[in-house]
Amino acid sequence: MQPMLNIAIRAARAAGNIIIRHIDHIQDLLVSTKGRNDFVTEVDRQAEAIIIDTIHKAYPNHAILAEESGPQGNNDYQWIIDPLDGTTNFLHGFPQFAVSIALQHKGVLTQAVVYDPLRQELFTSSRGDGAYLNDRRIRVSRQKYLEGALLGTGFPFKEQQRFEQYLDTFRALSSLTAGIRRAGSAALDLAYVACGRLDGFWEFGLEPWDIAAGALLIEEAGGMISDISGEEDYLNVGDILCGNPQVYKDLVKVLVAPQVSTT
Ligand code: IPD
Ligand code: CA
Ligand code: CA
Repeated sequence: MQPMLNIAIRAARAAGNIIIRHIDHIQDLLVSTKGRNDFVTEVDRQAEAIIIDTIHKAYPNHAILAEESGPQGNNDYQWIIDPLDGTTNFLHGFPQFAVSIALQHKGVLTQAVVYDPLRQELFTSSRGDGAYLNDRRIRVSRQKYLEGALLGTGFPFKEQQRFEQYLDTFRALSSLTAGIRRAGSAALDLAYVACGRLDGFWEFGLEPWDIAAGALLIEEAGGMISDISGEEDYLNVGDILCGNPQVYKDLVKVLVAPQVSTT
């Protein structure tokens, strides 16, 4: 296994242990608000600190882009970290959250880990080496059409002004598919696309740390991901769609069509 992936796994498991240790006394946690409907707890911060510490012990010069502490350092290698994706779920004891860690080298995603500490599901990938769930190779689903497909999504709950645009896409897709799920952890949603539990996914207004690890998992599992214009700049744009190749193609037809306003 790639040594850098090993470090990412070690860091994700350490963060997962911190998250699990706090699960029985969530009500005692200090919660602060970063913005509308955007919460952070001492668990997010502690988990992030142990991830960065683990990475820096192995690679002191690598740069970091982490949700709670922001960017640090300047290096061809940059780790993109969401220490707890699904904080709102975590705060409510809703069992769907994950640690997400990715590595970019010269702007190319090369390593990815998404770890669900409750189910102990570890999704991993190194570029060119496929995607795995607990060491078993995973592939995107074989669902051929939107009809019969199960999609995941997320609501733009932090950006109310985008709700109308989002509702257009929801209306367009809800009548075409077998079902739509909003589970509350984008990183895990993307991992679920990679292993075929979801056939496709779309969400607006995500951040690089929500997307980076899941994107590599999807690509290495044979799926496709893009921004809402069908272009590759999804990490920066944050409005994403993805799926197995057939479902992705149909999502592009519906979501990238000119009648759906993207402003
Ligand atoms: C959030 C989750 C959620 C998505 C939000 C993200 P956080 O991440 O991924 O599913 O809808 O846009 O911000 O804040 O819990 O790390
Ligand atoms: Ca997140
Ligand atoms: Ca987070």
